[in-house]
Amino acid sequence: MRSEETKLNFPLLPCVLAGMKRVHEGMTSPEDYRRQDWRIVHDIPMVCAFSYHWERIDNFQSRPDDLVIATYPKSGTTWISEIVDMILNDGDPDKCKRDAVFNKVPMLEFAAPGKMPPGTEKLAKTSSPRLVKTHLPVQLLPMSFWENGCKMIYVARNAKDVAVSFYHFDLMNQLHPEPGTWEQYVEKYMAGRVAYGSWYDHVKGWWEKRKDHPILYLLYEDMKEDPKREIRKVMHFLGKDLKEEVLDRIVYHTSFEMMKENPATNYTMVPNDVMDQSISPFMRKGIAGDWKNHFTVAQNETFNEDYERKMAGTTLQFRTEI
Ligand code: A3P
Repeated sequence: MRSEETKLNFPLLPCVLAGMKRVHEGMTSPEDYRRQDWRIVHDIPMVCAFSYHWERIDNFQSRPDDLVIATYPKSGTTWISEIVDMILNDGDPDKCKRDAVFNKVPMLEFAAPGKMPPGTEKLAKTSSPRLVKTHLPVQLLPMSFWENGCKMIYVARNAKDVAVSFYHFDLMNQLHPEPGTWEQYVEKYMAGRVAYGSWYDHVKGWWEKRKDHPILYLLYEDMKEDPKREIRKVMHFLGKDLKEEVLDRIVYHTSFEMMKENPATNYTMVPNDVMDQSISPFMRKGIAGDWKNHFTVAQNETFNEDYERKMAGTTLQFRTEI
């Protein structure tokens, strides 16, 4: 029986694989990837729409003066992107409103075939120095960025607030599969069965890498606690020297309240059949500690136990409230 199965199935396998590959590479319409399950890319669950022609990412050519902004999703990517752009533009809010943040800081792996241009194409057309956004875990970042010694800023946020933010993002983002109930989602999140895989591996992987590469590692909670202090760190890292009043202006214009009202930063320029902000706004709450409104006591206990195991042995410490 076993050998019969092998005989029948084995010759079919290449056809099945070829078929899958065709579907995969031939994604041309949003219907091919809307609300589809993750696709595994180099062992990491990836947004289906982003997963096609992955060699465009592996073979991506960086430029030595590229600045990489890397995060696990929902950790403050948009916030740090706007801060960096404001620093580079000497705190001029009008210059920073020249375009949407997702155009000023293209996302390397982004793709929505037949809908919006891919990140790699946008980046190719962007003049230097480029800002490059990515959520890739450290081992998936294209080799060229390491070879060119590009500067990088990584922002990490505590695991519980990321889970809550990511859940709401999955609810509204049509490029992601439906997240299911919050209960189901917490399980998936702890197991790394969400886009970009395990939060735990992501934050630890980038934390280790900073030992041998110019990576400024920031924490969302520190930015909430004292934005000016953290903005000053970014300024020094970028080799800029801005006056106090300019720093104050940057703090003001990159506050949650200002960015929520700013069409260049609140993602309202993304078509609502991609991000349906009537379900949950992109700029949702912007606080540390919202997890307390979502985790049950039992979920919190299970999460904490699992967290201790997964984060044992790292010097990386998070605050879940400030
Ligand atoms: P919440 O969903 O908890 O509100 P990313 O940009 O990586 O996708 O992260 C989005 C999260 O960062 C959202 O969290 C969003 O509200 C928050 N955020 C965006 N801009 C912010 C700001 N200026 N200050 C504080 N939080 C901000």
